[in-house]
Amino acid sequence: MGATSIKLIGETGSFYRADAAPVVSSERKVLYRGEFVDTAGVRTDAVLTTFRDVATASYAMELACLARNGVIGVGPRLLCPYVSQGARTRELALVEEYAGVSLERAIFDGVPIDAEQGPAAPLAAPGTDMRTREARKICFDVLVQLANMHGSRVYHRDLRAANVCVKRYGPAPEDLHATIIDFELSAAAAESRIQYQNQPYTQLFLGIPASMGARIEPAGITPLMIDMAYFTALQFEVATGRHIATATHDDLSRLQGAWPLFAYVADGSLFTRHIDAELDLVPRAEQLGLPHVDEQTFPDPELLAFARDTIHHGGYLDAYDRALLARSRPETMMFTAMDGLTRQAYQRYVDQTRTTGAGVAFATLESQPEALSDSTAAQVRDIPAKVHAIGCAVVALDAADPARRVEQFAPEEIEYLAYLEHRRWCRERREAGWTYGLHKDVARRISNTLVPYDELDEASREYNRAHVRDIPRLLAQAGLAIVR
Ligand SMILES: Nc1ncnc2c1ncn2[C@@H]1O[C@H](COP(=O)(O)OP(=O)(O)O)[C@@H](O)[C@H]1O
Ligand SMILES: [Mg+2]
Repeated sequence: MGATSIKLIGETGSFYRADAAPVVSSERKVLYRGEFVDTAGVRTDAVLTTFRDVATASYAMELACLARNGVIGVGPRLLCPYVSQGARTRELALVEEYAGVSLERAIFDGVPIDAEQGPAAPLAAPGTDMRTREARKICFDVLVQLANMHGSRVYHRDLRAANVCVKRYGPAPEDLHATIIDFELSAAAAESRIQYQNQPYTQLFLGIPASMGARIEPAGITPLMIDMAYFTALQFEVATGRHIATATHDDLSRLQGAWPLFAYVADGSLFTRHIDAELDLVPRAEQLGLPHVDEQTFPDPELLAFARDTIHHGGYLDAYDRALLARSRPETMMFTAMDGLTRQAYQRYVDQTRTTGAGVAFATLESQPEALSDSTAAQVRDIPAKVHAIGCAVVALDAADPARRVEQFAPEEIEYLAYLEHRRWCRERREAGWTYGLHKDVARRISNTLVPYDELDEASREYNRAHVRDIPRLLAQAGLAIVR
């Protein structure tokens, strides 16, 4: 990090400038790349935006947009709204999250896309499977943010690739995260009109219609049409690597599925519609394999409520969202390592069964019927609730105070947690239609252990204890620790 430190008002934190050369925006802004450290010492890759000539109105507009957007999950996070005592005078400034490189430069200049961890890498070559997946993810993110804006009756009206940033939060194409920026032209009125002289406006509203023998009246172009047409242009550019000025009507209609968001009607008029979750978001998210923000992913109701309040990504989670959640609630990290943990928890069950000399019906998790492997997953998902039940917390392993770390539960804790585990398991089995019977019969869903913990035989209690004893080790595998 560079040596320049800018002191922020109000003890909110400090911004350390990383680059000597600032990014100068078109007119009013000058941006510096750096690192923001809040009062708790949390570091965030950040951008400091200063306003030339202390353009108060631009500052106010930018601040208002970032504040509103923070609530609806659009744009970079606002880290600190004000600053003063720059080198010379008082300055108005904003510190926001660094959202990555410009999508325009990533598409057209092959600029490597910064990664949160690991090396920066450019977009894959157009036409490859990797590029298709990258383009899909970028478009999903942009579409969700547009939907969130429109849901608040705000239209961006300048959604060019130059106003989208991209950053990598993991190695997969789906770990790319796109962020809309630059809300200077955003309008809160669906009927307000604006006209540009530059791309992609000219191609979308003049060039293509003219090639079809049609003419669009500028007064008829609504903010919704602009956002949807620009989104279509963005989709074209990111998929093909070609500039929108080279696109034909056929190029754009080929991009669209059965239900276009924007289309040219043969008589020269335009069709547009609002984003529809079922038509536009769900299929895209499913194709990307993004997990849902739901009870399955966050079995702890309080954690689920927190995730719902924090993440506004169309009801889904990506690598960026997971990192954001993990910042304030490290135990959410566990769910990202779910598959590995479930496999290990099952291994513990198999080992425990073998020590008792009993036969194991299924030696590996994969060979189990789905209902049973779901059951192991449910057991793992209940871990945070168990840790909480004995007054402990789950934190990131490297942030755990060694003096407070719990690497082994006390015997009383093991017994109580084993009781909780058995109670959870009984509830789960009853809900799945199991009943008590003297002799176990999987086919008829009869279990001889569907009894209160106090009535369980010692060997059955030991299954529950074995799982509970294993919790600190399982969490450590996911980079987590228990503290008291
Ligand atoms: N939060 C951010 N993270 C990373 N880069 C940013 C961020 N905000 C702006 N930039 C960069 O600065 C450039 C100018 O910002 P922008 O807000 O689009 O200004 P202008 O109003 O001049 O278009 C962008 O193209 C982008 O590359
Ligand atoms: Mg811009």
